[in-house]
Order: sequence, then C-alpha cells, then structure tokens
Amino acid sequence: MKNRTEEHRERLDAHVFVCTNDRDSEHASCGAVGAEETVAAIKDWLRERNAFWTAVSVSETSCLGLCSEGGTAVSIQPHNSWYSDVTPESVPELLESAFGPNAERIRGKD
Ligand code: FES
Repeated sequence: MKNRTEEHRERLDAHVFVCTNDRDSEHASCGAVGAEETVAAIKDWLRERNAFWTAVSVSETSCLGLCSEGGTAVSIQPHNSWYSDVTPESVPELLESAFGPNAERIRGKD
C-alpha cells in the first residue's frame, strides 16, 4: 500500500463526483436523465478555465443516494457539497457558486 495523500493534497483543489448510475428499474437514476451530458458540461466548464484534471478532478460514480427524475447527482469534495437535479444547463451556476465565475477560487489553477 502507498499513502499518496500528500501528493493529491498538493495537486488537487477539489474532486467532483458525478453519478452516472443507470439501473434497470422503475426507480429514478441519474443515468436515465442525462448524466453523461452533465459530466461533459462539467468537464467543458473546467477545461475552458484551465482547471480540468490539474486542479480539479472529475469522476463518474455509482449512486450517491440523491436519485431524482429531475437530473444528475453531483458532489464536490472536500467542500462537502451535494446536489441533485443537476442538468447541463445548471452546471455553470453550480460550478460558479463552488469555484467563482472564472474558477478564481481554485487553488493551483494555471
Ligand atoms: S442513481 Fe444517481 S444518486 Fe442514485
């Protein structure tokens, strides 16, 4: 086992987790309501501000326990922020509130 905590603490300011779970049932799941498009919108927003992967990682996850028919579940760590009903259209508002309009609150960007 390698403890890589310090390595990530130096590189990463935040990690965005996006549920893309798709279940074959009548219950709501993010994968059935546009999660892939939401992931793409999040990556694009960060890329346009030179913050994708270098300072902010984005990972697709399974169920975050915030299932909804209205959109995708997203969590930003270590902010301990949790959202549901996220759509590609609401991604700019969400990320601006977390990181600033030009991602100026992201440490280590650029
Ligand atoms: S299926 Fe996405 S939070 Fe449950």
